[in-house]
Amino acid sequence: MAAVLAGIGGFLPPRVVTNEDLSATLDTSDEWIRTRTGIGERRFVSDGLSTGGLAVEAGARALRSAGAASVDAVVVATTSPERLCPAVAPEVASRLGLGPVAAFDLTSACSGFLYGLAASAGLIASGTADTVLFVGAEAFTTLVNQQDRSTAPIFGDGAGAVVLRRGEPDEPGALGPFDLGSDGSLADLLAIPAGGSRQRSADGGLGHGAVPTEDWYLRMEGRPLYQQAVEHMTQSAQAVLKHADWSVADVDWFVGHQANVRIVRAVAEELELPEERVAVNIDRVGNTLSASVPLLLNDIAARGDLRPGDRVLLSAFGAGLSWGSTVLVWPDVVADPVS
Ligand code: ACO
Repeated sequence: MAAVLAGIGGFLPPRVVTNEDLSATLDTSDEWIRTRTGIGERRFVSDGLSTGGLAVEAGARALRSAGAASVDAVVVATTSPERLCPAVAPEVASRLGLGPVAAFDLTSACSGFLYGLAASAGLIASGTADTVLFVGAEAFTTLVNQQDRSTAPIFGDGAGAVVLRRGEPDEPGALGPFDLGSDGSLADLLAIPAGGSRQRSADGGLGHGAVPTEDWYLRMEGRPLYQQAVEHMTQSAQAVLKHADWSVADVDWFVGHQANVRIVRAVAEELELPEERVAVNIDRVGNTLSASVPLLLNDIAARGDLRPGDRVLLSAFGAGLSWGSTVLVWPDVVADPVS
């Protein structure tokens, strides 16, 4: 038995923020952002739209793509939750009219889509669910200090979703094997210090004194993260290919987390994958964390580049540190363009 991809959908909030828009208030430029990251524009949530709303829109599209009116479970991967408590997945299930199904959130930053796929596949493998709606949804720009030029240009908001169903390991769309890993000793390379139990309230929570404003926002050490990203995505991709008994030549598409186009290209180079087999959409969306991989899959499928029967390698890396990879043969699913 296997978890098989049966539908896909994506959603981007309508507000487009270009590099020129950012340069109006930040000491940066279109040229710097493009050459260092590959990003040209990204989307920001606005007008009352937050993580839950993004997840509902993407989830509805994935259900439509799968032709499914119901599922047994809803899983949402997010590192920009609606609030600390409760999880957003039950609300997403309710707003989609899916009834009293199992629903929970999962937090794994930019590797959230890979961890969530594995967790959703596990629900199916254990017999707990026959069908799962799994959504990666992020309004992460709300957690980024828009006055910090080292992080503000990088992130964007959006959501991507898939429907998984119980199936056979040898049919198109069957997921796996998976490779997952982590290194918590480097947690501080990318963190939002305040807002949780360690530094919870405005007066400092555990008696540490007042929480400085900057602690409510993302802190990132870009250079060491860059090296870690290339190293772990490469090793994880190699491990999963070995486990799947695929060679690099078998891979039609490398769909890697879009943190920085230079990272994606460096991983492809390490893997000796030619550029035409490397999927990229960071120029339009930025780094959308757990929404990144499904939005990219949806993009290349909607424009007809990713075709049924193509062999796909998925790989992601993010805060935690955490990383993961899997493979699948692309199934015959409907993918609508995300505007
Ligand atoms: N505009 C102009 N100049 C800038 C900007 C900016 N927006 N940001 C930084 N600079 C300057 C710096 O001040 C520095 O100047 P200096 O040389 O005078 O000191 C120079 O540009 C180079 O800065 P670096 O930080 O060394 O630039 P780098 O080439 O490393 O690119 C980046 C920075 C894009 C952040 C890159 O390091 C990166 O992509 N890192 C990985 C990020 C990542 O993978 N995160 C994990 C996933 S995200 C998640 O899990 C939530």
